[in-house]
Amino acid sequence: MHKGMAKDRLIVALDYSRKVEALSVAGEIKDHVGLFKVGLQLFSSDGADVVRTLRKEGANVFLDLKLHDIPNTVSNAAVVAAGLGVSMMNFHCLGGKKMLDSAVKEVSDYCAKNSMKKPLLIGVTILTSMAESDMREVGIASSLIDEVRRLAAVAREAGMDGVVASVHEIEAVKRECGNDFLVVTPGIRPLWSRKDDQERVTTPSEAIKRGADFIVIGRPITLAPDKRKAAQEILSEMEPPVCS
Ligand code: C5P
Repeated sequence: MHKGMAKDRLIVALDYSRKVEALSVAGEIKDHVGLFKVGLQLFSSDGADVVRTLRKEGANVFLDLKLHDIPNTVSNAAVVAAGLGVSMMNFHCLGGKKMLDSAVKEVSDYCAKNSMKKPLLIGVTILTSMAESDMREVGIASSLIDEVRRLAAVAREAGMDGVVASVHEIEAVKRECGNDFLVVTPGIRPLWSRKDDQERVTTPSEAIKRGADFIVIGRPITLAPDKRKAAQEILSEMEPPVCS
């Protein structure tokens, strides 16, 4: 279980198409956020530049590119990302153990050689947008939870630090891979917020209670009229109640 303060465990998704918007929101809330998630949308517009600027401003970055390619291509891309100073990045476990092994080895070697802290390397199991019927279509016969468990075990064997998983999968992942294996959980909505297009949502406190090490939240903060207040409220929901 991740032992940091609530702030260190809050990841805010900067799902914007323009760097200026993303950086302005990041600047507004950075005192209340552990990491900013830069995903495919923002990366496709301003890419590495936005990561460099966030780093220069002292923010930690989760680079959410869900890498999936041949081992050589993935590990080279991962080393470049590590060189940008990201704190967390992710890889599709379906790329296979060789791909994950190679990413872990090359990133670890690069960071050791450059005296840098190794970023947390996180696996993506089955996307939460996929139902079992979608899995059948691409030839996966096992149940969703069995497949998540198997892919998490592959990630752990490869030396990854954890996986992205929905709140419903945390228990199975921790049982399979151990309590120290990190779980990063999206699909979070405080009670006061809209669901948007997320179907099965969980509150920040419930996600933490069920074992999430990090939670990923976008729109409840980024679309709030007072973004700082929204982030603060989420942090206080994440803190365990103080026992007297
Ligand atoms: O705005 P919202 O809180 O729904 O954003 C959640 C973020 O987490 C988005 O960047 C979304 O792509 C990402 N995500 C997710 N569900 C997953 C994996 C990632 O919502 N299973």
